Amino acid sequence: MKILFILIVQLALIACTASTANKPALTSTADRLPRVRQNLVAPPFLPKHDQVAQGGPKVVQVRLVAEEKELDIGNGVMIQALTFNGTIPGPMIVVHQGDYVELTLENPAHNQLRHTIDLHAATGALGGAALLKIDPGQEATMRFKATKAGVFVYHCAPGGAQIPYHVVAGMNGAIMVLPRDGLKDNNGNPIEYDRAYYIGEQDFYLPQNGDGSYRSFGSPLAAMEEELDVMRTLTPTHVVLNGAAGALTGTHALTANVGEKVLFIHSQANRDSRPHIIGGHADLVWQGGSFSSTPMTDYQTWFVRGGSAVAALYEFREPGLYVYLNHNLIDAVLLGAAAHIQVAGEWNDDLMTQVAKPHASSRVGQR
Ligand code: CU
Repeated sequence: MKILFILIVQLALIACTASTANKPALTSTADRLPRVRQNLVAPPFLPKHDQVAQGGPKVVQVRLVAEEKELDIGNGVMIQALTFNGTIPGPMIVVHQGDYVELTLENPAHNQLRHTIDLHAATGALGGAALLKIDPGQEATMRFKATKAGVFVYHCAPGGAQIPYHVVAGMNGAIMVLPRDGLKDNNGNPIEYDRAYYIGEQDFYLPQNGDGSYRSFGSPLAAMEEELDVMRTLTPTHVVLNGAAGALTGTHALTANVGEKVLFIHSQANRDSRPHIIGGHADLVWQGGSFSSTPMTDYQTWFVRGGSAVAALYEFREPGLYVYLNHNLIDAVLLGAAAHIQVAGEWNDDLMTQVAKPHASSRVGQR
């Protein structure tokens, strides 16, 4: 009887060992899910997406290419940029909570540097950076589950001083993980946006010549040491929106119509920012970028912690040219962090009207 009992226990142990050997404790259901490819687009635009998820979770395949290239950051100042897909910021990825992102990162053979990607939306392995470290001529793919709803930064993180160098040379972007049933306002009611824009703010630290002009370099490796020296001062020479001073002004202004709800997603991968719309507000602000938190209401200026993205929704009530800027006005006006929003529609005199045009004051000289 005792021998039989031992035999049964041993058999049970063997069976148990065999089953754990064949089946890891936690497996992914991703292999059984439908797969879709998301075609990424250059900011300030977002890829085509549903605000409310259609059907169950999916595997969303995206491809990012590390592009080392010379870029004009405004007024002819050229930098040795490091980018995802050629733009600063890199493209916005949009999925729903519970979806899986299958991300392929390519490092073309003509590049000089090793690249990888840390996604703040991902869990484990340095946000994926430990799995996607690739040298020129390589590519790698990893999949992560988008467990948290919100807007999140992603950025290159190859290790050591290369981390700030790559991020501040432009290698950052954002992913929006929408709740499956869409966004909710402060009362928990569903809310939809009519347009969404992705604004990526970037600080640059460029070495200067003795005459104040900016030094130019032939490659990212050649620029690295001198740029790191300027970075150590923590004093940017340029702070821009979407890669260049003027990238979103004049003929490149963002557009909207009176009555439209516009979602602004603002990321800053390295430094704090204070977005503000001159002549407008944010009706709703998802602080810290979290869509599972109740949005704050009626903000004049909101806050983006360095290393995060924030979403703000505003319904435009008056037409005209709005300035969207970092309300550190030195960053905005002197260093470049300003954009325009051209809003069309009918003027509402009730909200504002000019009671008297500028004219000679009868009180001149009086007290
Ligand atoms: Cu990199």
